[in-house]
Amino acid sequence: MTPAQALLVEQVRERFGPKAAITDRQTIEPWLTDWRGRFHGQAPAMFAPGSTGEVAAIVRLAGEAGVSIVPQGGNTGMVGGATPPADGSALLLSTRRMNRIRSLSAENNLAVAEAGVILADLRAAAEGEGRRFPLDLGARGSATIGGLVSTNAGGTQVLRFGTMRSLIAGVEAVLPDGSIHDGLAALKKDNRGYDLNQLLIGAEGTLGIVTAATLRLVPGVVARAVAWVGLESPASALALLRAMEARTQTIESFEIVPDATLALVLGHVPGSRAPLDTRHPWHVLIEAVTTDPADEAPAALLERLLGTALEQGLAGDAVIAASEAQAEAFWRIRHSISEAERAAGPALQHDISVPVEDMPRFMVEGGAAAEARFPGTHAVAYGHLGDGNVHFHVRAPAGIDPVRWYSEEGPAITRFVHDMVVAAGGSISAEHGIGQMKRAELERLSSPARIAALRAIKGALDPQGILNPGKLVTLAPGVRTP
Ligand code: FAD
Ligand code: MLT
Ligand code: ZN
Repeated sequence: MTPAQALLVEQVRERFGPKAAITDRQTIEPWLTDWRGRFHGQAPAMFAPGSTGEVAAIVRLAGEAGVSIVPQGGNTGMVGGATPPADGSALLLSTRRMNRIRSLSAENNLAVAEAGVILADLRAAAEGEGRRFPLDLGARGSATIGGLVSTNAGGTQVLRFGTMRSLIAGVEAVLPDGSIHDGLAALKKDNRGYDLNQLLIGAEGTLGIVTAATLRLVPGVVARAVAWVGLESPASALALLRAMEARTQTIESFEIVPDATLALVLGHVPGSRAPLDTRHPWHVLIEAVTTDPADEAPAALLERLLGTALEQGLAGDAVIAASEAQAEAFWRIRHSISEAERAAGPALQHDISVPVEDMPRFMVEGGAAAEARFPGTHAVAYGHLGDGNVHFHVRAPAGIDPVRWYSEEGPAITRFVHDMVVAAGGSISAEHGIGQMKRAELERLSSPARIAALRAIKGALDPQGILNPGKLVTLAPGVRTP
């Protein structure tokens, strides 16, 4: 620990007690590596403030001491954004103790949750009041509101409700100078110039530490149906989605899974079984939800629509979950993909989007192109087809040394995939952000105007580079950092 860090830790302990500043190695250790195990950092201390006021004081003191801070929630991010630098130059700030749902109003369809509230807890609290917080993802048991806001997370309900950004009605945050931005008021209309809330959403902890958010709720579920469909190609899948959307507004999720990925999950999740007895190159998981008891039951609706799709040859086979337990089992397959992939061995992950209508072609042709260019690799793409966003993963050739493969082949493979994405008019980060993983690629593939604007914003709000150094965007060359 540097003398400046040690002094800061002592000051925080003096003011807020031992809980607010942890230096025990064993407690800190699990938070130094990202979920995928790709990034390893060092931090001699971790702050765990209990209130917005404590966060503000810590950030102010850190600024005075010239010590940088890495905000961290559940550490489930996919781009190394919450992993501190490897040289131990920054300290972690965990929101774990700020886990209060300050209010939840079914009448106003709003909840105010502190940054450390776990997604699953917020969803459960909303359900307890007959409402829903309509964002879901595999990491729901660990991901926090602060992390979801700061990565503008997506998930499996974006098709109907949009990303985190569209579910946020207000943000409270501590800015890099230690001042508090109170933007929690859920105003429908507010045109006071630049929108700081919007700037903080997706900022990955580089412009402020989110301490709480006002979140939109939607009506609770009256009935849902979950179907698993086997089909020939991503093109059939998109045609099926469009055919269904033309007849109903109840489709909330439409997730595509290639057969190889299904096989991976079945091999990884004990007790799981393929939803269909027949084999198909591609699968989709569809969820239809109604919130009005007067509506047609979603199971009957899906049966009718999928019956037509089978007749038209858009689908090869389909099954509708006969019970909640079976519906959950279908979802478990989908939400276990990341975990199964992590266990399967080295792979390069690309979280990409292209215009929705181009996605089927991109998935097939892009996958074939990557495999041809890098012999022995296996390219798979799965995920949020209806959003034009898939996780395009390139798995390493069998038996290869992962460390060598990542360092020697990795950058060229990633550049190849990203170049295809840019040529297709897409984005190299659809929902996971930039973090440290994609910083160089963001710079390589963005216009000078975009990079200059990002740097100018960072430099204006955090001229000292106190918050989350080395992530998303660096300050302009020559600017002093702590
Ligand atoms: P962390 O990982 O702790 O942090 C993420 C970033 O936010 C870091 O840059 C960090 O510095 C910053 N941050 C954290 N808290 C704050 C705060 N209070 N203020 C300011 N900055 C902060 N993402 C999707 O979008 N869609 C998916 O479908 C999806 N599925 C996933 C499935 C699995 C199994 C896993 C492990 C992850 C998945 N993710 C998905 C990744 C997703 O980004 C995270 O789950 C979530 O958004 C991060 O929350 P967290 O609390 O873990 O944040
Ligand atoms: C998902 O949709 O399951 C996650 O965003 C996936 C991932 O990239 O691993
Ligand atoms: Zn995803």
